Amino acid sequence: MSIPIGPAGPLRFPDNFGWGAATSAYQIEGATKEDGRGESVWDTFSRVPGRTRNGDTGDVAIDHYHRYAEDLDLMRDLGLRSYRFSISWPRIQPDGTGTPNQRGLDFYRRLLDGLHERGITPMATLFHWDLPQALQDAGGWESRDTAHRFADYADVVFRALGDRVPSWLTINEPKTVVQNGYLTGHHAPGRQDPDAAYLVAHHLQLAHGFAVAALRANGSDSRIGPALNLHPCYPADDSPQAAAAAHLYDGYENRLYLDSLFKGSYPEDLLADLGPQSRMVQGIRDGDLKIISAPVDLLAVQYYTPIYVTADGGTAHRWATSEAEWQQIYPEGMYDLLTRVTRDYGPIPLTITENGLPTPDTLAADDTVQDTGRINFLRDHLTAAHRAIADGVPLESFHVWSLLDNFEWDQGYDQRWGLVYVDYATQRRVLKNSATWYRSVIADGGF
Ligand code: NOJ
Repeated sequence: MSIPIGPAGPLRFPDNFGWGAATSAYQIEGATKEDGRGESVWDTFSRVPGRTRNGDTGDVAIDHYHRYAEDLDLMRDLGLRSYRFSISWPRIQPDGTGTPNQRGLDFYRRLLDGLHERGITPMATLFHWDLPQALQDAGGWESRDTAHRFADYADVVFRALGDRVPSWLTINEPKTVVQNGYLTGHHAPGRQDPDAAYLVAHHLQLAHGFAVAALRANGSDSRIGPALNLHPCYPADDSPQAAAAAHLYDGYENRLYLDSLFKGSYPEDLLADLGPQSRMVQGIRDGDLKIISAPVDLLAVQYYTPIYVTADGGTAHRWATSEAEWQQIYPEGMYDLLTRVTRDYGPIPLTITENGLPTPDTLAADDTVQDTGRINFLRDHLTAAHRAIADGVPLESFHVWSLLDNFEWDQGYDQRWGLVYVDYATQRRVLKNSATWYRSVIADGGF
């Protein structure tokens, strides 16, 4: 049940609340050919004409690989308590396997040292979609072996950087790899093959489980968990047909991932819908679900939009859409999602690892960016998160997507999601109004 959000009043978050922002490697680093980095599927994909807006690639991105110290200072200036970033697999293992590339590890060590020096707690994602191209050539996530390669990679990273990272996230948005990479094909590797897609889902879940096991085997006391983008699915009318359609839709959007992780089983209605001959069902081996459902220490939730499901199983738009055509603005969905996850899957510590809005930001003559839409969006979603906390949801932290404008995948650099504006011609960083607003929210512990 969602209660309408009341008028903005003084809202105080817990003193130790982890105010943060998020980024990912391929979207910000650039330097794709430096210090021994290998190729990733996104290097390949973005070079194919027509795959990204304006033919944009992450070759330079926002040059964070060279400007990380400046970016760390920005984080300190904003007062961030938590920074969520990802480690580029092809920097660590250029071909996806074998001896680690020391220069790649050194970059993340420098970054982590810089965070510690500034009193910012790191949260590191192991995989944010930049699969080494060599592994794609060997079958990618359709191959079960890729999950084993991921376990080895995770082990290498834990050994090298584990002492500096209190919280690990395994795989960013497995669903997006499944849906965008293998159903619609508008993300790397650009496939349109539903039967392959759900086998990929299983292997991503398995890879997550292997990484959890690797961390435990290292005797680490760091925390680890998955990073799921979840979508509350609402029926478009009161009919039983719409309710059934929304339930099945919820299966593909949410329960596929949540049930396997927290209940040790895939939803029966989904398995029936996929059919016994599907590659996914055929690919599940004895013991897999036990590996996938190994206990985790936290669940990272990414919330952007609800889905409005019609009686025929399609979707409709009900709320205002953002510049991202898939995003409808519905802050109450945040409350519904957080309370639902806690109710259905237990009181596991939660973090919001992404929430944000793209806006048509321009740099004014006085060097300001008036992104009022982003401020309103964040204020309303934080208000919903606050209400969830008040109702008992163990939400520990919140990360705005994104710290800085960056490479928005197939949308290239046109869609700006950052708190901080990046002038791509000069790589100059300018705080948007949302950044100065967020800084005061952090300083005040609320708004
Ligand atoms: C989710 C993804 O994790 C991130 O990479 C992307 O930029 C944002 N959503 C916005 O689309």
